[in-house]
Amino acid sequence: MDYKELIKLALSAKEKSYSPYSNFQVGAALLTKEGKVYTGTNIENAAYTPTNCAERTAFFKAVSEGEREFNAIAVCGSLKGSEEPDYCYPCGVCRQVMIEFCDKNDFEIIVIKDLENYKVYKLKELLPFGFSPLDLQ
Ligand code: THU
Repeated sequence: MDYKELIKLALSAKEKSYSPYSNFQVGAALLTKEGKVYTGTNIENAAYTPTNCAERTAFFKAVSEGEREFNAIAVCGSLKGSEEPDYCYPCGVCRQVMIEFCDKNDFEIIVIKDLENYKVYKLKELLPFGFSPLDLQ
């Protein structure tokens, strides 16, 4: 699957956002090494702290289905109704979840502004000196 397709899936996942408290809508599309895609959106909560980010929703859906190997994740986010979305970068907690399952030298994070404008990073660029399962060996 090419990244444009993955980006489209992230953009449409954003439409499912449950974000009545922040009105900030996030979408993610996670690509497995076998080419399967798991989408996710942010799910907020009246008690605030149970909120789950879009990226983690996608990872937890995939991992709970038995997936363990991933190539890339596409992420977009903007305030509801915003005319000019900006690039949306994964939060620190989501980066930590990524390094649990992904090789920091290979795994790619596609940060989306819109269908034509996106940037691609390796996980190691967004989480330098990250703590991973390798540190416990
Ligand atoms: N959010 C995400 O879904 N992913 C991120 O990486 C950044 C933040 C969500 C959480 C919350 O629902 C809203 O954006 C505002 O923080």
